[in-house]
Amino acid sequence: MNLSREVLKSEEQIAERVHALGREITEFYKGQEVSLLGILKGSFIFMADLARQIRLPAQVGFLEIVTSRKSEFLTEVAFSSSFPIEGSHVLVIEDILDTGVTLAYLTEQLQLHAPASIRVCTFLDKPHRRTVDLQPDHVGFQVPDRHVVGYGLDWMGKYRNLPYLSWVE
Ligand code: IMP
Ligand code: MG
Repeated sequence: MNLSREVLKSEEQIAERVHALGREITEFYKGQEVSLLGILKGSFIFMADLARQIRLPAQVGFLEIVTSRKSEFLTEVAFSSSFPIEGSHVLVIEDILDTGVTLAYLTEQLQLHAPASIRVCTFLDKPHRRTVDLQPDHVGFQVPDRHVVGYGLDWMGKYRNLPYLSWVE
């Protein structure tokens, strides 16, 4: 597979959308503190840009999920958090929502830590691929069913540092 020569979303389009998302989130949580919980590694660039567009007192933390799957079923998730979840308004920051299996499991695990609320902000969404009932609360862009790379997203560990969005084919 090779990197396509085409641009799916340019740096300018991304910056504009992330700015609007920041406004949307700021409006939603007005008067409250929010705990931004990024899912590594894919969310690191989105988190850095989005966090600066959220005009609220915010904590920032990251999780890394280790998954192993047998068919469509998630069999193992290991995670650690860098701030207390209990009583916090947790906003999970994801790079892309595909089948939704990973995030469904994660939100279930987070619920056990008694947060004040849990919402999900995903930079990209592939709604047609969903196999579980999970609706993100804030979405950057819907994308077609291709392997998207750039702006934090990888293919075989590569292309995360691409400043725009493209895909491999
Ligand atoms: P799912 O929603 O449980 O299927 O898993 C979503 C995860 O799969 C994301 O957090 C990404 O790490 C990875 N993923 C899914 N689609 C893509 C893609 O198009 N490009 C890069 N990573 C992807
Ligand atoms: Mg991911």
